[in-house]
Amino acid sequence: MTLPTTQNTLHHLLPQAPTHENSLAQDVMQGLSQSPKKLSSKFFYDAKGSQLFQQIMQLPEYYLTKLEHQILDRQRKEILFAFGTQTPFQLVDLGAGDAYKTKLLLAELVATQAQVQYVPVDISEDQLNLLLEDLHHRWPHLPVTALAAEYFQGLEWLNLHLRQRKLVLFLGSNIGNFDLPEAKEFLCTLRQSLHPHDALLVGLDLRKDPEKMRRAYADAAGVTSAFNLNLLHRINKELKANFDLDQFQHFAEYDPLEGTMRSFLISKTAQEVTIEALDQTFQFEAWEAIHTENSYKFSLRQVEEMARDCGFQVQDVFTDTSHGFADVLLRPV
Ligand code: AVJ
Repeated sequence: MTLPTTQNTLHHLLPQAPTHENSLAQDVMQGLSQSPKKLSSKFFYDAKGSQLFQQIMQLPEYYLTKLEHQILDRQRKEILFAFGTQTPFQLVDLGAGDAYKTKLLLAELVATQAQVQYVPVDISEDQLNLLLEDLHHRWPHLPVTALAAEYFQGLEWLNLHLRQRKLVLFLGSNIGNFDLPEAKEFLCTLRQSLHPHDALLVGLDLRKDPEKMRRAYADAAGVTSAFNLNLLHRINKELKANFDLDQFQHFAEYDPLEGTMRSFLISKTAQEVTIEALDQTFQFEAWEAIHTENSYKFSLRQVEEMARDCGFQVQDVFTDTSHGFADVLLRPV
């Protein structure tokens, strides 16, 4: 890819060796050897998966994107004012994806001539390349440094190489992919890499009518099903496996006690799958599940408590008109 400006760069920080501890191979080996079986949702996002997720964001049932878009659209001035954009800063976007919502903030920052460097961090390098191109067309003078990395790799790299005042974005209820203890650990770890004048804007899907939440993860057009099944397709491709996608079924349900949406791939028959790259065969019983994702739904009280326990204070809570989604601005205390 050629970019006409020298400003915008992409740094690749992801592990290259397929046997690395964070690799797909490792995750599949561990996840399919245990009972119940599981796979990590972070591996959804290959080129095809990122594209399917963009389609999900456009679905009528997938309210999350619409609600957060409304918040950032209507309250962008207030959000940026609350952070303070008078002095230079980095806008660090964890799990940026196509930056559909972040672009609302970027438009405002460009319009007000804020001195900002945009730092999208994403696990998908393909996605970042598309984003760089898109941003270059929209705002040729916006400095962008993209990091193909996992969240903390990205933050560590920034603190080592490009330390500046930071507004960290963790939008889209991406934090919901963790279970509650993990989410707290994530916030506490993130807190460690922030300095007094930094801030974190975290987007959270709030608890609401369970039917509405379920429909968002079991859409009528079957896009979420394709997104979930693509994980098996990816394993077939990258690890030389022979999953028969027709023999697995997407299933999503909301657990109102835990407050989480859970997604599964369920084996429709008793079957065997061989994964050449792992030199392994895995047995599936009829109707056995692979747990592929948690999408946690929060209450505001929970978030405030979790933030406080990690050394953050809640500076502001921005919600949509239906109170279905919140973007919470957190400051280190
Ligand atoms: C990108 C993690 C926020 O959990 O809602 C969408 C991913 N999975 N439909 C979510 C997803 C199924 C999404 N996040």
